Amino acid sequence: MDAQAVILAGGQGTRLRPLTHTRPKPIVPLLNRPFLHYQLALLREHGVTDVILSCSYRVDDIRAAMGTGEEAGVALRYVVEAEPLGTAGGVRNAADLARGRLIVLNGDILTDADIGAAVRFHAQRGARATICLIPVDDPTQYGLVDTDERGAIRRFLEKPSREQVTTNMVNAGIYVLEADVLPRIPPGRPVSIEREVFPALVRDGVPCFGFPLSAYWRDIGSPAAYRAAQLDLLRGRVATKVTPAGTERDGCWIGDGARLDPRAVLAGPSVIGAGVEAGAGAQLGPLAVIGDGARIGRGARVEGSILWERVDVGADSVVRDCIVGEGAVVGAGAEVGPGTVLEAGAAVPPRARGAH
Ligand code: GDD
Ligand code: MG
Repeated sequence: MDAQAVILAGGQGTRLRPLTHTRPKPIVPLLNRPFLHYQLALLREHGVTDVILSCSYRVDDIRAAMGTGEEAGVALRYVVEAEPLGTAGGVRNAADLARGRLIVLNGDILTDADIGAAVRFHAQRGARATICLIPVDDPTQYGLVDTDERGAIRRFLEKPSREQVTTNMVNAGIYVLEADVLPRIPPGRPVSIEREVFPALVRDGVPCFGFPLSAYWRDIGSPAAYRAAQLDLLRGRVATKVTPAGTERDGCWIGDGARLDPRAVLAGPSVIGAGVEAGAGAQLGPLAVIGDGARIGRGARVEGSILWERVDVGADSVVRDCIVGEGAVVGAGAEVGPGTVLEAGAAVPPRARGAH
């Protein structure tokens, strides 16, 4: 397809703290793969291989994880903001590298949206901007978009109050933009595409359309959503070409060099990283994602949980419906309960109970 993509990857990921203290949101692991791989694979599937990453926070980490995009089959370039310029500033900043039509993605949405269909819709309507729309239960967390029966946008309202909610259709964070819209973004200061640019386009009568998606879609920007997205991936609810590393056996992906005791129990769907060790009687899964180099002690149970690299789970402990950051240690016999997020390097004392 003759279009380039810009991925907005410069936010600080505040709602995903403490996980984003050590890793920026665009590269948090999903089934042990940096998140951006899923977006790049989607773009590539729709023939978009020229991708500009608009970064600010921890760009060196993003560059180290994603490189030139070769592994994902795209050509990746980076534009870096010294100070965050907001969602529109991030797009404008990429304008020097852009020509023609642009596909813009928020760098935190897991989706199998039909981007090709959105571009065709955009062209058929003669739109200058097309915003992909998705229905949600609570529009107050998103950008509300009112359209007429032809799909023309009548109102864009970011994070509406309850009283302002008139529809459940919101901005999915996927746009098709004609490059001639970009000069409308004021340079040199932070600009929000949602609060400033879209409302101005609508006010000025620039043709803007909403394209309703029927697709899997989730913003991964909170711990609960980040975990839920991976459970969805494990359950096969997301159409993606990205597969976990290793080999598949009975609904479990097992990474190279994993050493699982023959008396350990593996329950799928689960993903076990490279070099993971599990002791006798350990139960991994169902719905466990275990990062490379993690150690699961004898008799320990890990289910419904996301463990980053080199987590150490002590003997007989239980980790259920949690997220555990890199290198954290769960002491022997501890129980870490639903919804817990342990930051990288955290230590749960032996036999501890409840939330941490
Ligand atoms: N380059 C750059 N510079 N990127 C930024 C900046 C910045 O200053 N600020 C935020 N971003 C990136 C974030 O990294 C993220 O990928 C994307 O822009 C959206 O920012 P969020 O902070 O995740 O916004 P949100 O989730 O509250 O709302 C947005 O997404 C919703 C859909 O998930 C809005 O676009 C809503 O209208 C939308 O409904
Ligand atoms: Mg978001």
